[in-house]
Amino acid sequence: MVSPCAQMEKAAKILGTMAIREVLKMGDPHLLAVALPVREFGTPELNALIEDMWDTMRDLDGAGLAAPQIGVGLRVVIFGIEDNARYPEAPPVPLTVLINPELTPLGEDMEEGWEGCLSVPGMRGLVPRYRHLRYTGVDAAGHPIDRTVSDFHARVVQHEVDHLDGILYPRRIRDLTQFGFTDALFPGQAIADD
Ligand code: NI
Repeated sequence: MVSPCAQMEKAAKILGTMAIREVLKMGDPHLLAVALPVREFGTPELNALIEDMWDTMRDLDGAGLAAPQIGVGLRVVIFGIEDNARYPEAPPVPLTVLINPELTPLGEDMEEGWEGCLSVPGMRGLVPRYRHLRYTGVDAAGHPIDRTVSDFHARVVQHEVDHLDGILYPRRIRDLTQFGFTDALFPGQAIADD
């Protein structure tokens, strides 16, 4: 017997309103490529890509996702945390679609923090990131975004935009003793495994 929820999900998939895509894992060459800028906004193709990204990120309870992680080599990232069990300590970050981003670190101040990635499931690493950052870009309709952020919000943006340049967080780790499996690093803590 199929639950009503599963039936609705199936119907949504048939209607083309929901698509959870496969997330590529570290080792897949698509994750190492430099993604291309988006040139046209408000198109059905771009909107469908973004919807698939939200569906996929929500399904995996992620804090962010970059288009190359689902095999699409475009400079599109989504991120945001309202109330996420994977990041119980994290302050809220607004749900954001950011296209063709440009990052400008504000100052030299860097901070180490634990990161995970849906493309590196089951692991965490201690990664240095700029604490203060200005980022610009556009949303799905091509409207400008210009924000100055700090700390966790700045970290999430740096992590996601790295994906557009083919960089996964393990390459940013300075001390590889601070990289490992989540359940071994944080035994007994109920942290989701990816
Ligand atoms: Ni990631």
